[in-house]
Amino acid sequence: MSYNFETVKVEIADKVAKVILNRPEKKNAMSPQMHRDMTAALDQLRYDDDVKVLVITGAGNSFCAGMDLKGFFNELKGKDPAEYDRITRMATEWRGRTMRYFPKPTIAMINGFVFGGGFSVVEGCDLAIAADEATFGLSEINFGMFPGGAVSKSLANTMHSRDALFYGMTGRTFNGKKAAEMKFVNYSVPLAQLEAETMTVAKEIAGKELSALRATKDGYRFSLEMTWEASMSYTAAKEQEVFMAQKGGWLENGIGNFLKGDYKPGLGDQGAAKKK
Ligand code: ACO
Repeated sequence: MSYNFETVKVEIADKVAKVILNRPEKKNAMSPQMHRDMTAALDQLRYDDDVKVLVITGAGNSFCAGMDLKGFFNELKGKDPAEYDRITRMATEWRGRTMRYFPKPTIAMINGFVFGGGFSVVEGCDLAIAADEATFGLSEINFGMFPGGAVSKSLANTMHSRDALFYGMTGRTFNGKKAAEMKFVNYSVPLAQLEAETMTVAKEIAGKELSALRATKDGYRFSLEMTWEASMSYTAAKEQEVFMAQKGGWLENGIGNFLKGDYKPGLGDQGAAKKK
């Protein structure tokens, strides 16, 4: 199963959607059309019952070379300010709120270049696995700019201040191993193993219960901005929501089957126990 947009390709198998930024000839720089396409793709994937996990990656040797410096800034900014504003809002929304609170887990599979605005795509994803050989750079300073739009906030959310300011001020590049050392990504593997490794993680997560996955993500993300009291109240309500969504599942089946001695949840889920 697949969907095709002008600049984005989606391939679906085993409940995992591989979302490919697809302008390899332009290193997957985000043109206005790519922002429209990602907005449409994420909307479709949100409601697709065949999809439980998203893996976002780039075609060719690049993940995302940032904003399309020609199509976005050079051509649009001066010539059509209203459309520039519309696309800017769209660009910020899909990489920000839409991805951050997307109801399904998302993984960035970083296969190559990540520059500027590409950092916000990585930040928007819940997890990130990079090729050792990937090249990251906050190149804005190299053309006399700074990490504008959504990027400054993405850096503040995911990087240590020393790293964000060092790379933001020097414009130097770093590779996937360094990104892992800084915890900007979960870990890195050789490029030749990237797809297999990422898909193993994606399928493992796709095997878990969707309302529990969503609550895991919401519980973490919303708690970041809540007081302790508000978070306790929120998670108590969330617990009821998951119970209702699963029609009692986690309490009756999940804990119930452990108490019957069927499996040990500390060591894996019920599906894994059945496979043994
Ligand atoms: N915007 C527009 N076009 C781009 C971008 C971009 N961000 N990145 C690459 N391209 C284009 C190139 O202009 C080139 O087009 P052409 O074939 O019509 O000349 C094509 O993609 C291929 O790029 P090359 O430079 O030929 O590829 P190379 O492998 O030598 O270098 C690299 C790749 C390092 C990514 C280089 O293209 C580059 O420095 N790009 C700019 C990266 C950047 O600074 N991004 C903006 C960050 S700031 C922000 O997002 C707001």
